[in-house]
Amino acid sequence: MPKGNEERKFYELSLQERRALLQETAGIDASTLAALTGAAGLTDEGANHMIENVVGVFGLPLGIAQNFLVNGREVQVPMVVEEPSVVAGASFMAKLARAGGGFFASCDAPEMIGQMQVIDLDEPASARLKLLEQKAMLLDEAAHIDPVLIALGGGPRDLHVRLIEQSPIGSFLVVHLIYDVRDAMGANAINTATERLAPLVEQISGGKVLLRILSNLADRRLARARCVIPLRSLAFGEYSGEDVRDNIIAAWAFAAADPYRAATHNKGIMNGIDAVVIATGNDWRAVEAGAHAYAARSGSYTSLSTWGRDSDGNLTGALELPMPVGTVGGATRVHPAAQAALKLMGVTSSTDLAQIIVSVGLAQNLAALRALATEGIQRGHMGLHARQVAVAAGAAPGQVERLANILVQEKMVRVDRAKEILSEWNTQDE
Ligand code: MEV
Repeated sequence: MPKGNEERKFYELSLQERRALLQETAGIDASTLAALTGAAGLTDEGANHMIENVVGVFGLPLGIAQNFLVNGREVQVPMVVEEPSVVAGASFMAKLARAGGGFFASCDAPEMIGQMQVIDLDEPASARLKLLEQKAMLLDEAAHIDPVLIALGGGPRDLHVRLIEQSPIGSFLVVHLIYDVRDAMGANAINTATERLAPLVEQISGGKVLLRILSNLADRRLARARCVIPLRSLAFGEYSGEDVRDNIIAAWAFAAADPYRAATHNKGIMNGIDAVVIATGNDWRAVEAGAHAYAARSGSYTSLSTWGRDSDGNLTGALELPMPVGTVGGATRVHPAAQAALKLMGVTSSTDLAQIIVSVGLAQNLAALRALATEGIQRGHMGLHARQVAVAAGAAPGQVERLANILVQEKMVRVDRAKEILSEWNTQDE
């Protein structure tokens, strides 16, 4: 007998049933939900206002990660990603983390760094001091650049001047304007501020300001999440909780010690992070750049996450990285699906969003490590991969599931085999 909606898992529901349930559980209206559908999302006209030379829009799957509890709040997490197993992996690990209270997240104030490169200086060291002597005046000037941001409680916070002594062009200065951008990602605000401040910096330093641009190493805008996975939740199949925990810690140690592994380990973290960053219309290249630069901050590229055990033997995980994302401005404002994604999560500020995103990154990292450190990654991937192979071989919607199951059972997830089976079925039908 078919099970009722309430008994079935989210992934067992049809696409229409999932939408209906989401509308109910997230308390959003039908028009908000409609923005997440292929037809009603970004229109050609909308896209035409976003970038140049538009000829259309490009669709990607949007899935909802389940089970996320972030600082005690239930969150439905929209993820835009083309890779199978990412949404399922995050959802499953969020369920394990839930048993330990979910994700505990926090983040810094939304302070970005704007850089001004000052060249052609006769005496860079004394020019540096001259700029620092005028710090209060420069900050005061910066406070008049964006009255709207100031009214919202943002604006300049500090000014640093760095002397780069050795470079291919000799020495020069770098002025860092620390700027609180509130709920924006902040690129526009900070770039405007550095451009406006540059003539004054030239006047004071006697040099020439060349570059005026934000830094994507947003290390004053870190977001962090931690979780505790009770030992009992880790055991499965032939693996004891202790085995899984210790193997995960050993797998993490590999990434902590070896940049070749760290790159892949961090890529797994970014699978989750980028998917939410994209769903909310944020700049995933900025987040990627910041994450990897931060991972290399010690001079040697390493893991962004940390895994260990607490005094009760439970597995503990932590992740900290720059998270320059916004809930206003840019594509977040103009893309209807990004607006719907924010509503779905009940997110009201950039800091809220940053905390959810970093929690998803930690869950995604755990999904990869748990699979890699036990049965291997291919087993979990196989089911979804088989469905893609079935579709590629030309299976009709009603045939995909059955064909995929056969391919997995036969351990022959290949398009040629799928085509063979399909042609056998077609011959039988004739
Ligand atoms: C694949 O997209 C991500 C993984 O390679 C991450 C990892 O190795 O930790 C599975």
